[in-house]
Amino acid sequence: MLGGLALVVLAAAGLWPAVSVEAAPAAHTRYLIHCSGCHRADGSGSRRGGIPDLRGFVGSFGRVHDGRVYLMHVPGITASGLDDAGIAEVMNYIFTRWAEAPPNDPVPPFSADEVARLRALSVPDVVQARRAVVHELEARGLPVAAYPWQ
Ligand code: HEC
Repeated sequence: MLGGLALVVLAAAGLWPAVSVEAAPAAHTRYLIHCSGCHRADGSGSRRGGIPDLRGFVGSFGRVHDGRVYLMHVPGITASGLDDAGIAEVMNYIFTRWAEAPPNDPVPPFSADEVARLRALSVPDVVQARRAVVHELEARGLPVAAYPWQ
């Protein structure tokens, strides 16, 4: 009874919602918290800062195996502190929002299992990994965002 009362008091003080948002953040909130500091809320990034534009480009990486491996090793993912399911959720969110995929050919979503598998692979140099993937994407005619270390 006392516990229930404590929750009511917390809710009245506006503290309880903050706790529940932390426990189950929506993918959008997760993006805002973990990614938008660099990629910006609108996904545009910063050319000067070396943060690639996600809009209309991010889906290309999701279409080839090495691109999916690369995505699981970009700094914002490795340093996010999110678990495999959380990473899958935020990655699928940005695919849905910015991949510009035709409805009949969506970018395959990540599952937590695939995230775990790909994160376990070793990618010592992410800039070089991106370069190799970009060659493959360009050969397939898939669009890639500008990047200072291309
Ligand atoms: C500290 C800044 C920073 C944060 C925070 C960050 N990123 Fe990034 N992100 C980068 C940089 C820099 C690159 C370019 C790759 C590189 O240089 O290693 C990148 C690349 C990417 C790419 C590949 C785009 C491309 O064209 O290569 C994706 C997708 C991405 N980040 C998603 C995310 C997601 C999702 C989050 C949040 C969980 C996130 N990032 C958080 C800095 C950040």
